[in-house]
Amino acid sequence: MDITFLLNGERVELRDVDPTMTALDWLRETRGLTATKEGCNEGDCGACTVMVTDAQGARALNACILFLPQLQGKALRTVEGIAAPDGGLHPVQRAMVDHHGSQCGFCTPGFIASMAVNHLNGETDHETALAGNLCRCTGYVPILRAARAAEDAPVPDHLRDDAGVLAQVAPPQAFQPETADDLARLYADTPDATLIAGATDVGLWVTKQMRDIGPAIFLNRCADLQRIERADGMLRIGAGVTMDRVLSLMEAHHPSYAGMIRRYGSAQVRAAATIGGNIANGSPIGDNPPALIALGAVLHLRRGDARRDMPVEDFFVDYGKQDRAPGEFVEAVSLPEHAPALRCYKISKRFDQDISALLGCFNIEVADGTVQTARIAFGGMAGTPKRATQVEQALTGQPWSEATIHAAQDAWAQDFTPLSDMRASADYRLTTARNLLMRYFHDLSGAETDVRRVQA
Ligand SMILES: Cc1cc2nc3c(=O)[nH]c(=O)nc-3n(C[C@H](O)[C@H](O)[C@H](O)COP(=O)(O)OP(=O)(O)OC[C@H]3O[C@@H](n4cnc5c(N)ncnc54)[C@H](O)[C@@H]3O)c2cc1C
Ligand code: FES
Ligand code: FES
Repeated sequence: MDITFLLNGERVELRDVDPTMTALDWLRETRGLTATKEGCNEGDCGACTVMVTDAQGARALNACILFLPQLQGKALRTVEGIAAPDGGLHPVQRAMVDHHGSQCGFCTPGFIASMAVNHLNGETDHETALAGNLCRCTGYVPILRAARAAEDAPVPDHLRDDAGVLAQVAPPQAFQPETADDLARLYADTPDATLIAGATDVGLWVTKQMRDIGPAIFLNRCADLQRIERADGMLRIGAGVTMDRVLSLMEAHHPSYAGMIRRYGSAQVRAAATIGGNIANGSPIGDNPPALIALGAVLHLRRGDARRDMPVEDFFVDYGKQDRAPGEFVEAVSLPEHAPALRCYKISKRFDQDISALLGCFNIEVADGTVQTARIAFGGMAGTPKRATQVEQALTGQPWSEATIHAAQDAWAQDFTPLSDMRASADYRLTTARNLLMRYFHDLSGAETDVRRVQA
């Protein structure tokens, strides 16, 4: 594969690139730019964070799970290129010095890359924006002070230039279809290819499992998959829409869904991971599927020119098995624009940057004190994301009351036989699922509270 991109403001053309060479390995081992560090090599620690700019703006991404072809036509900046060309410090670098934001410094280049992106984008929720950067020496208070201190400093000109130069560096590539039609043709012809969207899963197959993923088709330049459309009270979200865009969308339409996505990985993960990848990977602990199932969302699949639709829950056949034929891909997912009764509860050991132990989504419509319809879906309770159909039946047609919720107690064990694993025991999962219904009842009654305990 041949790729062209900007590295710290300079055009780079690479020929015959290994499609699974990570940006981090290339930067450090081929290019000798060793400021960007390798910590976990799986997207968790942020030591490898770099700044990537495209037509949609600048984002912080983890270079350890970013394949070089994903940079096609984009601008990459490492900490070496975030400083001014004359060596002058970027305002966030200056602030880190002034506020003693670095001790061992291993995490610091990643922090600087994230902070420079946040500074460029005017982001001021630093705690959320830096949750994907781990520091084990300095502690976060001086780092957060530095981020706040730099907020009002002007963005250096050399960082504004990246977006302007991009148009010249993006020749189309066969492995990277730009329309859904081209993708459909290419994938139908090479059904054994691995589709790569954000690579937040596939990246780990390579860096941790050392898998040879065979031929690859990259989805990140397929404009048709990036669309969000509104029509007839429905939202249609293209499979390639990243989780940071899903978050903004849900803030306007489904605030509880947005609250859950705010805790999806980190800023770096949300900027890469796509909603299509999160559905297609079939994970029993993916965060989107339970919310989509509770909303009654419809999945749009395509193979060549043939398209089919199905309720999202029908896609998950069994653990590791989805209803998807060779050469077929997820094109989009449609969901109602509004569902005021939707609530999503993510339960994980850490508040930020953690995979769910379980995740429950409830969408129960009540009229005249009686349950009219109930859609309840859980992740982490079975081998697939799954509806609680017995519980739904036990509630439907009944008065919406604590007594009804108690009467439905036994139905939970008919719906779910959860496993014990490192994230939670089976008992914990079942008890928590039951309790979440009671919490939902109180939340809908107006007692909604932010249950996050924040230390002053
Ligand atoms: C540090 C870290 C934190 C994470 N935190 C969370 C979290 O909090 N919650 C959560 O749910 N997940 C989390 N994940 C998992 C991961 O982000 C998701 O599963 C992600 O949504 C996958 O999307 P992607 O675009 O990166 O997919 P990729 O890795 O590119 O692909 C994943 C799979 O989907 C297939 N695929 C991708 N797009 C399509 C398509 N359009 N049609 C058909 N198949 C397709 C690929 O071939 C592959 O099999 C985390 C991952 C990391 C590394
Ligand atoms: S090395 Fe830890 S996120 Fe990349
Ligand atoms: S300064 Fe050492 S890990 Fe952050």
